[in-house]
Amino acid sequence: MEITRERALELFNEYVTSESLIKHCLAVEGAMRGCAEKFNEDVEVWGVCGLLHDIDFQRWPEEHLKMAPSILKDAGYPDDFINAVLGHGDFTLVPRETNMAKCLYAVDQLASFIIAVALMRPDKLHGMTAKSVKKKMKDKAFARAVDRTELQKGADELQMDMGDLITLVIEALQKRENELNEMEKSFM
Ligand SMILES: [Fe+2]
Repeated sequence: MEITRERALELFNEYVTSESLIKHCLAVEGAMRGCAEKFNEDVEVWGVCGLLHDIDFQRWPEEHLKMAPSILKDAGYPDDFINAVLGHGDFTLVPRETNMAKCLYAVDQLASFIIAVALMRPDKLHGMTAKSVKKKMKDKAFARAVDRTELQKGADELQMDMGDLITLVIEALQKRENELNEMEKSFM
């Protein structure tokens, strides 16, 4: 099966209707597209992986990632794709063996964190630097739901400097926000 955003959106719209979750998934999609560019991989496939990574979260929040494998398998997604999705939850114990899996884990919470920082700024993502994000990471009261240790673990698994990873995600989100604005959608 060819993985396309168009097909993925059909599945996405079937399972995800909550505005906050839509925004989160669109942001992770954008971040994954940026990662694919960096690793010279398939931008569409990696983007779709980001888009669909929380496919079962809204309907089965207590059993997150238990339903995802069958939903994705039935829709024709391959095992490496499904394993990447499963790998973004540490609790599944599915190892992150591919760069796609490692990136998904690394950007899932980071993308949301960066958006939380952007929402505090008058210019939002525009002109945002990795430095301001790192500063907020040290501020324990800010976005306390985001586990800083996990953010660092994500960068470490990719053997990337945290600052470089943040910059990559900021740039990917900026690009995505512009693209999505043209479609009258936004993740902010
Ligand atoms: Fe997520």
